[in-house]
Amino acid sequence: MRFPGFLALSLAAQGATSHACKTDEDCSLNGICSRQWPWSDYPNGIILKPRKVCKCDPGWFGDDCGRLDLRPAGRINGYNHSADGVESSHFGPYGNSSWGGQIFQDPKNPKLFHLFASQFADGCGLSGWRPHSFVLRAESRNGPQGPYQFAQSVSKPFRHNPQVIWSPADEKYLLYTIGVDDNVKREECTSLSYTQWPNNISVSAADDLQGPWTPFEMVLSSKEPHSTNPAPWPLWTPEYHTSKIVLGVEDLAIFIADKYNGEYELVHTQMWNTSEWSPTWTEDSFFWQDKRGHWHALAHWMIDLVEHDGQKWPRVGAHVFAKDLTGPWHFHLHEAFNSTVTYTDGSSQTLDRRERAKIFFSDDGEMTPLYLINGVQEMGERSRSSTVIQPIGEKWKKYEKRLGFR
Ligand SMILES: *[C@@H]1O[C@H](CO)[C@@H](O)[C@H](O)[C@H]1NC(C)=O
Ligand SMILES: *[C@@H]1O[C@H](CO)[C@@H](O)[C@H](O)[C@H]1NC(C)=O
Ligand SMILES: *[C@@H]1O[C@H](CO)[C@@H](O)[C@H](O)[C@H]1NC(C)=O
Ligand SMILES: *[C@@H]1O[C@H](CO)[C@@H](O)[C@H](O)[C@H]1NC(C)=O
Ligand SMILES: *[C@@H]1O[C@H](CO)[C@@H](O)[C@H](O)[C@H]1NC(C)=O
Repeated sequence: MRFPGFLALSLAAQGATSHACKTDEDCSLNGICSRQWPWSDYPNGIILKPRKVCKCDPGWFGDDCGRLDLRPAGRINGYNHSADGVESSHFGPYGNSSWGGQIFQDPKNPKLFHLFASQFADGCGLSGWRPHSFVLRAESRNGPQGPYQFAQSVSKPFRHNPQVIWSPADEKYLLYTIGVDDNVKREECTSLSYTQWPNNISVSAADDLQGPWTPFEMVLSSKEPHSTNPAPWPLWTPEYHTSKIVLGVEDLAIFIADKYNGEYELVHTQMWNTSEWSPTWTEDSFFWQDKRGHWHALAHWMIDLVEHDGQKWPRVGAHVFAKDLTGPWHFHLHEAFNSTVTYTDGSSQTLDRRERAKIFFSDDGEMTPLYLINGVQEMGERSRSSTVIQPIGEKWKKYEKRLGFR
């Protein structure tokens, strides 16, 4: 007996991969481990035994759904002002170099997109990041992928790695950054030690994306363990109204506070080796809660530094996940994305550095990843840097079409 053709067809149409799974964790919580009837493993067709394979959510692919389904970007995208005119007052030649950011759709004008990004002041590039970095807001009327144009300085130096969330409980935008307020004259593009310019984590609030933003309040001193590179996420869901805020930090450690400007308490540190130069060494996390209530984070994975003598590419993206915030967390040791960007003109480029990953999700309750935003540096560059936006999966096409951009 052979399987009827229609059965083989319908199974093939699901696009499921052949790798077997037992639990949804085997599918990185980015999909469902679901039963599939075998049709190719049993050529004589006598034994009909179901097995389970991962069925990935849109935007993720791979045997374990642990890879971001990146699609070609336009050649001119994101916020790349690294080659803009140098002014005589500038200390460095690196234009408006930037280092990653985050997209917001304007709530009143859906065709207007905002990007909160880190930029290095006075022509200083990435190598002068501390204390020259400040937070800017840029705008795009060309759609979420940009290109974005400078609109407003949101902070003075030194502020870095901004992450903005909408807090439904507070009905405010919350801006988390590292840094301290500037009170020393900056003279040249060198980067200073954190003892001179601590990475303290602060928060500021605003009713609108355009501000005004309240003065920064420090929520975690850089003396606290893991206290740098804040990755906030509100615990509020439509079913659970709370003002609690989750704050992911370095080494994928997790703090929680009752309210955004309250006391942050360490609730979880990861079980894997977070030491520098270990194969599970990461930095710069970005946390989110998915449609099933499960938790995820992306981070900059430094595996090629460890295995290839300080080389920064290509395996740059780590994905970790857990059903509960306090774990157990899982880390599948392969990259969620690499440092190669493909473009709509058919070309591609492998970047030296691709870090500071952040995702813009669909707003239909599905939390489908639509765009990946990174701070990037091209091969051979010493300090010039920019912010790249690359679409993910298929759903962004409909999103842009509905807004009239395609
Ligand atoms: C940024 O723009 C400059 C100047 O146009 C260009 O040389 C560079 O390749 C761009 N960087 C990226 C990552 O696209
Ligand atoms: C570069 O950044 C400065 C703010 O530091 C801004 O005033 C200027 O408009 C920006 N230039 C471009 C070309 O975006
Ligand atoms: C930042 O944290 C340091 C400890 O690392 C502390 O001494 C300093 O007072 C803090 N700065 C501000 C502005 O709170
Ligand atoms: C963690 O990794 C570091 C760097 O490779 C290594 O020296 C250390 O022994 C590891 N610690 C454990 C507990 O495995
Ligand atoms: C980067 O990832 C893509 C799949 O997302 C793959 O096709 C490509 O070969 C990878 N490039 C490198 C250099 O690993």
